[in-house]
Amino acid sequence: MISFEGKVAAITGAGNGIGLAAARLMAAHGARLALADLDGARLQEVAAELDPGGQRVLARALDVADPAACDRLMAEAAAHFGGLDHLVHCAGIYPEKLVKDTSDEAWRKLMAVNLDGTFYVCRAAQPHLRDGGSVVLMTSLAAQRGSYAHAAYAASKGAVQSFTRSLALELAPAIRVNAVAPGIIATSMTSDLIGQKGAQLLESTPLRRFGTAGEIAGAIAFLCSPLAGFVTGEVMQVNGGIYIA
Ligand SMILES: NC(=O)c1ccc[n+]([C@@H]2O[C@H](COP(=O)([O-])OP(=O)(O)OC[C@H]3O[C@@H](n4cnc5c(N)ncnc54)[C@H](O)[C@@H]3O)[C@@H](O)[C@H]2O)c1
Repeated sequence: MISFEGKVAAITGAGNGIGLAAARLMAAHGARLALADLDGARLQEVAAELDPGGQRVLARALDVADPAACDRLMAEAAAHFGGLDHLVHCAGIYPEKLVKDTSDEAWRKLMAVNLDGTFYVCRAAQPHLRDGGSVVLMTSLAAQRGSYAHAAYAASKGAVQSFTRSLALELAPAIRVNAVAPGIIATSMTSDLIGQKGAQLLESTPLRRFGTAGEIAGAIAFLCSPLAGFVTGEVMQVNGGIYIA
């Protein structure tokens, strides 16, 4: 039902977890991909997996906290493929620290990656996005209900939600802008959390399991597709019922 034939998607954080799952799903449905991740070596493995012929995937190391690098990458991707249709921004970090133990540097690093990076990537992609395209950003359950020992992370994701709604107003009617707010998804990001509090988290999740990266990729693909053609400015909760608004 979903086809990305003829479409080009730029995906950040594509080396692992949700970004990787989105890259696999969108490639399987015909998209050509510009992939970016801090871990350039890992990204080359992903590119080799998804595009052994080397025609359909452009893979570049990128620190999303570097605005000039974001500009360069989106310009290169657009020149390579002749434009962009979708931006899926999954790069992010989730360090554990109580507020009282959070240094100025740690706070700024988190905001630089999770919040500034969202702004830099969106600003860089915007001039290259073709009409009918879309942007999908990643927020979190933490933005809705707070997150113990992750206050900076939760604050950054709350800001991403506000940014999503505002950018949706700016880019309409040509481009739709939405976000996905995952619950607890089993990726490398949550392995410590699940190790420490897995049983308690399952107990409070009505669907009684953790989500998979593929299930978040499904929501991303839906939001990019014409099936979501009248959806913009939305934050889609994909969380097994752990938070019901
Ligand atoms: N896993 C969850 O339960 C969960 C829940 C809510 C929200 N999210 C959000 O979903 C997104 C993806 O999370 P995930 O679980 O796939 O995490 P992950 O750790 O598996 O993957 C994140 C990727 O981002 C990359 N990255 C980190 N810093 C970067 C930077 N400065 N520049 C470029 N790339 C960078 C990493 O190398 C990694 O490949 C994140 O924004 C995260 O906050 C995840």
